[in-house]
Amino acid sequence: MNSSDLLRFLKARSSVRDYSGEPLDPEDIDYILVCASTAPSAGNREAWDVVIVTDEDARIELALAALEQVHIREAPAVFVVCANYIRSMSHYGERGILYALEDATIACTYMMLAAHARNLHSCWTGAFNENDIREILHLPEHIRPVALLAVGRGTPPLKPVERMPVEEHAHRENW
Ligand SMILES: Cc1cc2nc3c(=O)[nH]c(=O)nc-3n(C[C@H](O)[C@H](O)[C@H](O)COP(=O)(O)O)c2cc1C
Repeated sequence: MNSSDLLRFLKARSSVRDYSGEPLDPEDIDYILVCASTAPSAGNREAWDVVIVTDEDARIELALAALEQVHIREAPAVFVVCANYIRSMSHYGERGILYALEDATIACTYMMLAAHARNLHSCWTGAFNENDIREILHLPEHIRPVALLAVGRGTPPLKPVERMPVEEHAHRENW
């Protein structure tokens, strides 16, 4: 893949909120997980974990916890990506909180792009009630759910969402 291929690949991804419900192959899930495990992490401590939810009743519960967002119920798989505070804080102390959150978001980004590479659709979902997710999935205290990544096959939006001009983000040399 050259640099133009990469840009085309990235631009071809959109968040999808309309799913057919067709189940994922186990190989798709394995591929997504293997890709995520190549993500960088602070001190290579890989302070992230993921709960893969395919059961329909559980997805209905997750969707309710995610402020009734329908795509969480309709996508055949939801990857609940979590920060693992113990793995990071046991080494980095307080700073490990930030690192674990970063590790989890990078892992989730890799999962999202892995799904795209597999011609699957996804939607990163950050609006949810954390305590409800904890309860539904029996998460231990040191595990913080960071993102619900809905994955499946669906209908992408007709037009991609526009971005700010890149110069509005970039501050050269200093602010
Ligand atoms: C941290 C984060 C939280 C998000 N939360 C939600 C969400 O709760 N519901 C949703 O439908 N989309 C959510 N999104 C998806 C964004 O709306 C989407 O990425 C953005 O509008 C750009 O569109 P695109 O992904 O199609 O390029 C979230 C994305 C991120 C990175």
